[in-house]
Amino acid sequence: MLPASRANGAAPVEQGDAADSAAEAREKHQQEGEAALLKRPFSGWGDPGSPATSEEIEKLKKDLGTVCDPSDPTRKVAAKKANKAYMVHQRWKEEQIKSGRMDPKTGKVTQEPLGPVGKAFFLMLKWSVVGLLLSMAAGQFIAGDPIWGYRGKWVQRKTYLSKRLRVFTPAELALYNGRDEDRPIYLAILGNVYDVSANKRTYGPGGSYHFFSGTDASRAYVTGCFKYHCTHDLRGLDEDQIKQIETWKKFFDDHPTYKHVGTVELPEIDPESPEPRWDC
Ligand code: HEM
Repeated sequence: MLPASRANGAAPVEQGDAADSAAEAREKHQQEGEAALLKRPFSGWGDPGSPATSEEIEKLKKDLGTVCDPSDPTRKVAAKKANKAYMVHQRWKEEQIKSGRMDPKTGKVTQEPLGPVGKAFFLMLKWSVVGLLLSMAAGQFIAGDPIWGYRGKWVQRKTYLSKRLRVFTPAELALYNGRDEDRPIYLAILGNVYDVSANKRTYGPGGSYHFFSGTDASRAYVTGCFKYHCTHDLRGLDEDQIKQIETWKKFFDDHPTYKHVGTVELPEIDPESPEPRWDC
């Protein structure tokens, strides 16, 4: 059978037979030193704040040859480096028992360090991640795309990059109608300016929707009257029509290659002026 100290994982102490006064002095010195070290506070989960740092162990080893087992101060273990982890663990256990987190009889952790709310939160997080990964795997397998073809703003890099928005006057915006090759092409809808240079064929000169470039033509997006309704004047439109314009705005917001670059200061519509004509 193994001696108790071996069975506990610590190296045994070689018992000397000298019991003279020098040995007593050494013993006293050792106890005082260890008592001082054992009083050190435990510093938490991450760093168990062992009383026996390698320097201290080395010093004690040199001076005394043995140190107290933190879990049983009446027992001595060799103050060698190999025992450091053991002593740290004993000290950690002692602290867990003291704080009520460990059952002293079974040595089992009785209380979750995070508490029930923290535990529930981590469970939820864990299952959300598992769910997300499963859905992505299914998307890849069924649709050949882990995000099932979704290309909305939440999966676009531009959503997460801070953007510097510029405020345009209508005259400034008009400079970006695609006629100047050196400038990008911008259009505005509901006062928001978008860079649509990625679709030069459609919005550039000669393109089928060139009339939207360099201006806020919100009204025409819903009436389709490109001749008279390229204006931000929305008078006479009903709620549904306004919603349709908002849907177009969303189209530009969510577009993978267009960019929201600013806003345009639109002049107030004179209520006395006539509404845009309908005979397109
Ligand atoms: C209220 C009426 C309409 C509005 C406001 C409208 C608006 C637009 C806009 C803004 C685009 C460009 C989308 C982009 O940036 O990719 C577009 C593209 C297009 N629209 Fe319309 N549209 C209307 C009616 C029509 C009609 C009646 C047709 C067919 C006869 C049509 C055919 C097209 C085609 C073929 C494109 C693609 C053009 C290209 O990429 O070159 N649209 N439409």
